[in-house]
Amino acid sequence: MAHIHDLAPQVADNYAEGRRVNDQAKFPKTEVFSGFNAPCRLEGDVFDLEVDGKIPAEIDGTFYRIQPDQRFPPIFEDDIHFNGDGAVTAIRIQDGHAHFKHRYVKTDRYHHETAAGKALFGRYRNVYTDDEAVKGVIRTAANTNIVFWRGTLLAIKEDGPPFALDPVTLETIGRYDFEGQVKSPTFTAHPKFDPVTGEMICFGYEAVGNGNDASCDIVVYTIDANGKKTEECWYKSPFCGMIHDCGITQNYVILPLTPLKCSLDRLKQGGNHWAWDPNEDQWYGVVPRRNGKPEDIKWFRSDNAFHGHVASAYENEQGHIVFDLGVSDGNVFFFFPPEDTPAGTQLKRPQVETSTQRWILDPKAPNESRVKPAKIWNTSGEFSRIDDRYVTKHYNHFWQARIDGSREYYFEACGSPAGGLFNCLGHYNWNDGTEDVWWAGPRATVQEPAFIPLSSDAGEGEGWLIALINRLDVLRNDIAIFDAQKLSAGPVAVLHLPFKLKIGLHGNWVDEGERKEWEALRRKTARLGPVKPATEPLTWQPNEPRLYTEPQEIRD
Ligand SMILES: [Fe+2]
Repeated sequence: MAHIHDLAPQVADNYAEGRRVNDQAKFPKTEVFSGFNAPCRLEGDVFDLEVDGKIPAEIDGTFYRIQPDQRFPPIFEDDIHFNGDGAVTAIRIQDGHAHFKHRYVKTDRYHHETAAGKALFGRYRNVYTDDEAVKGVIRTAANTNIVFWRGTLLAIKEDGPPFALDPVTLETIGRYDFEGQVKSPTFTAHPKFDPVTGEMICFGYEAVGNGNDASCDIVVYTIDANGKKTEECWYKSPFCGMIHDCGITQNYVILPLTPLKCSLDRLKQGGNHWAWDPNEDQWYGVVPRRNGKPEDIKWFRSDNAFHGHVASAYENEQGHIVFDLGVSDGNVFFFFPPEDTPAGTQLKRPQVETSTQRWILDPKAPNESRVKPAKIWNTSGEFSRIDDRYVTKHYNHFWQARIDGSREYYFEACGSPAGGLFNCLGHYNWNDGTEDVWWAGPRATVQEPAFIPLSSDAGEGEGWLIALINRLDVLRNDIAIFDAQKLSAGPVAVLHLPFKLKIGLHGNWVDEGERKEWEALRRKTARLGPVKPATEPLTWQPNEPRLYTEPQEIRD
């Protein structure tokens, strides 16, 4: 009798000419859904993870991180990782033990697709490729970052509004509009938190209409420590391009505008949201943090390049902005090729050089001044993180996931490295230019790290670094904890997950003392009370669409 595996090749494929043709639960046979990239689709808990080494007893808090993870086979066979449903991991660490919890973000998209039992939303940020039944539904997958704000977690993606989650249970509370104060259709995945004032500085780009229609509108908000919106100003960008991250100083917000361009015509034709423009400059918008007016935005330009993530920003003695971020010399998002790329072109990850670049911007310079980086540090890395207590301040330490192509890599056992060959973690010191690097070995890569301070009054960079390790050959994840200033000594503890997650995007550490303080304030009878989800539809929504129902046959 034939084994079931022998029958597999006879099973009809559920994709034809690039589109899903039935509702069979079978994912495309593309690299996006294979090997370490294979869907995880898990919700669950693991109590007391197995540990090698010793978890420092002082660590008491939770490492939250988020990953895109498609729940259903996508409508389009060439779907991309960034289009996956947001799924949040919590690693709760206390008394030398660690516990795992993992839940999907229950977005409007989640509920509609659950009711239908299949994917209804089409291409990344293209409403014209969606099932008719979900026109008017907020389509964000909330899959890019998970941040703690006044007692709740916000799961965020730049194409839509945030969704609030309970920090203990990870259950979704609902869409969050800051109690009716934030109405823009889009909201950045990288809000910044001023450690001195307690403010959240956040923005949306492509921020009018439904948020996915190529507008050049940017809105910048400040929400104060009490949750009150104190600033809102609307600006225009020179073209509709991606503004993924930002930097803040005491007085300014810096918005890197990357030459990935949106076109409404292309969207209407069912194409990609973004197309790389190799002939366009990289731009940096600078706006005041307080009392901004639409005409206050000042743009700086430099030669074509691709922006990675921001390390930090501050103002120097001259009042100039010091702004540090990763910059690549080519299109990292190779799946968003230039507009004129012939259909059917085999898209491959390009060889790009990524450095950490320090820009010094004079806020009094004329608009559209051309600038060059003041320093280029060949860190060959991305996902910069700092000690977040130093946001807006002169800082010294940063950490990154690093690519070192000179190290051995067991391609046969591991295949093409999912998410890129980030095979090292690096610690960098601006003051003396030193680098402290840990190599994950020939069978593993790393995900974005997060910094855990030793204590609230510890010096800058005194503490630990935590990061997921992708065990590519055995399809498992570990979570490694390092002394943040002794990476090359190797991890002090490695927590073992008995399965694999996916390549995540971003995460953050939340101290348990802080979480508990907010929990007390959020009790039903407490002063603030529970977090309030949005109650009104966004202004662009025609009405609150009902959950998906199968089209009914029309009877005579
Ligand atoms: Fe990001």
